[in-house]
Amino acid sequence: MDYGQPATLEFERRPDGVLEVWLARPDKHNAFNEAVIDELCAAFEVAGADDAVRCVVLGGRGKSFSAGADISWMRASGDVGYADNLDGALRMARMFQTIYECPKPVLARVHGAALGGGTGLTAVVDIAYAAESAIFGFTEVRLGIVPAVISPYVVDKLGAAKARALFLTGERFDAREAERVGLVFRSVPDDALDGAIDGGVQAVLKGGPAALGIAKNLSQRLAAIDDIGHTAELIAHVRGSDEAREGLTAFLEKRKAAWCEECDD
Ligand code: COA
Repeated sequence: MDYGQPATLEFERRPDGVLEVWLARPDKHNAFNEAVIDELCAAFEVAGADDAVRCVVLGGRGKSFSAGADISWMRASGDVGYADNLDGALRMARMFQTIYECPKPVLARVHGAALGGGTGLTAVVDIAYAAESAIFGFTEVRLGIVPAVISPYVVDKLGAAKARALFLTGERFDAREAERVGLVFRSVPDDALDGAIDGGVQAVLKGGPAALGIAKNLSQRLAAIDDIGHTAELIAHVRGSDEAREGLTAFLEKRKAAWCEECDD
């Protein structure tokens, strides 16, 4: 199968049928912009149809798994016409949906920052392993935006009550807490992360390929996630708002947002 020559991802195709997909924008903590979104979506589409791939491991090069949506891209998206804004939001929603619906088990190797959409990527995979020092959080509201396109997958894993509390506080939390609330399958000492991933991979490789796809689909049918149109429209509206423009600009200018000038760090 042809995985192309992505600019923002790296692939390792292992002889044991494991496809490693690495987010590779380490200077931006693997924040995802349009290029990452399109390449990630394409990679999971191809992997889903590739008989040689038995499972996929998603990780991040550099210090972090992913700092979420690229804040420069989010700000710029709010300033383009609504049709283009919505188109970008739909592509982002489709990326999450494509990972979610990939018929192969998808594992995540989470370290460093996994914030905003990075927490969303952790939620959308089937089995996430996190280094104890990893940091999570739905920081969106602090930027004047909302965790829209990731919300179905977060509610699927955490349940509505925990998702709501974490969406509203925007607080950062560590890997043990992420395990406690059901976001990650296991948190492990930093130096045990690769071993944990390997254990997970070896476990899923023992499953029948067709049975794995059916079992994944079965667990998802119970969650019934089907409305990415609504979440994409929501983020397209919100990121075009004055409040979002202020929040996103404040991050890029390394200052506090207007509604939070007196907030603690
Ligand atoms: N989008 C775009 N750029 C981002 C980014 C994001 N989500 N997260 C980090 N970056 C960029 C920074 O702007 C900085 O760029 P610069 O070198 O051009 O100034 C670079 O990555 C390094 O980030 P910096 O903040 O200097 O590193 P740090 O080690 O002090 O902190 C983070 C790393 C990830 C904890 C911090 O950058 C952060 O909190 N990012 C925002 C995460 C977030 O809220 N994501 C949700 C987005 S919806």
